Amino acid sequence: MISRRGLLAGGAATAAGAFTRHETSPPTHAERARVEPFHGTHQAGVATPPQVHAVFVGFDLRESIGGEAVVRLMQLLTDDAARLTQGRPALADTEPELAANPAGLTVTFGFGEGLFKAAKVDSPVRPLPAFETDKLAERWSGGDLLVQVCADDGLTVAHAVRMLVKDARSFARVRWTQRGFRGGAKGTTQRNLMGQVDGTVNPADLDRAVWLGLDADGMRGGTTMVLRRIRMHLETWDAADRVAREFTIGRRLDTGAPLTGRAERDEPDFERKNNLGFPVISEYAHIRRAHVADPAQRILRRPYNYDEGLTEDGESDSGLLFASFQADIERQFVPVQRRLAEGDLLNEWVTAIGSAVFAIPPGCAPGGWIGEGLLG
Ligand code: HEM
Repeated sequence: MISRRGLLAGGAATAAGAFTRHETSPPTHAERARVEPFHGTHQAGVATPPQVHAVFVGFDLRESIGGEAVVRLMQLLTDDAARLTQGRPALADTEPELAANPAGLTVTFGFGEGLFKAAKVDSPVRPLPAFETDKLAERWSGGDLLVQVCADDGLTVAHAVRMLVKDARSFARVRWTQRGFRGGAKGTTQRNLMGQVDGTVNPADLDRAVWLGLDADGMRGGTTMVLRRIRMHLETWDAADRVAREFTIGRRLDTGAPLTGRAERDEPDFERKNNLGFPVISEYAHIRRAHVADPAQRILRRPYNYDEGLTEDGESDSGLLFASFQADIERQFVPVQRRLAEGDLLNEWVTAIGSAVFAIPPGCAPGGWIGEGLLG
């Protein structure tokens, strides 16, 4: 169970480590009643400490849909989100009782390049360059419109997704649905399915690293999102011993501490050598390859695990729904991904099989709608 104090502390979303509140036991009454504000400068679901459950839905607009219809669609979906997140049924909600427990529900909208094209507006986002290590499948990639739905109760998420999809149906068809969950002991950073403590290093100052500023026409207060579906090859990871696993990341499995430190939040010492003269944190360790020295240039990672069950041979179909938010994809995300593709020990056990980028418009005031500054 999460204490009220824990919840309040978790709400300080601009602090590093704000994403440490996790829960695996069923939500209590108070947790089910918890409301995240919908209206504001930024959309919720970015700086919000990640809830336990997430569903990401990627839509493609139907061929006939142009600018005016996109505006109608976003007005409709914004209204649904504004109600559901506050524990109120959507208009014409067929199961209004299911709206009563928002459980920290957030609904976050993202616009892909195709949506801007349909609305005849210049797109602030472009597709990612190709990376050699990617094996992208169409069925997990792209999309004109993203709806990210997160809450601490799976029932709440399922209901919200159903209501939103129902209202979107005449404008767009579902291209993909990706379901994720987070886990780990209470008060700790989540663990991914490789057993690693995942999500330790994130930017502290979101105004610089994540939110777009004054010069961002129509996107001020917004951001961008990269969503990558990364398959984990758990059957071969099983064969690696603990030393190899820790060497791969550059952190310990038990505490998440860097190999040069004792506690999760200790700064890694990338200069330290062992008694043979080799770096303690390998040149090809994931945290060295991914590290960005300037905190203002860091990406905000908000990852979820996925596990779609087993193949007939008992192999797992699981991995990470890697979601990152950053002010500038080309300057912040791409260089990190490039370094990882060029030489990250982790590549032996992970493969990106899906990829999509979205502009995350700013939030809106009551009566407004998401995207109004861009499409209105
Ligand atoms: C750090 C796992 C993919 C960027 C970490 C850490 C783990 C981890 C365990 C150390 C703890 C932490 O700071 O969170 C994974 C796994 C991945 C994956 C299992 C794939 C399945 C990616 C991708 C990117 C990325 C695709 C970006 C392109 C980072 C960054 C850090 C990090 C920026 C922090 C580095 C620092 O210490 O400054 N990752 N990661 N990771 N990862 Fe990943």
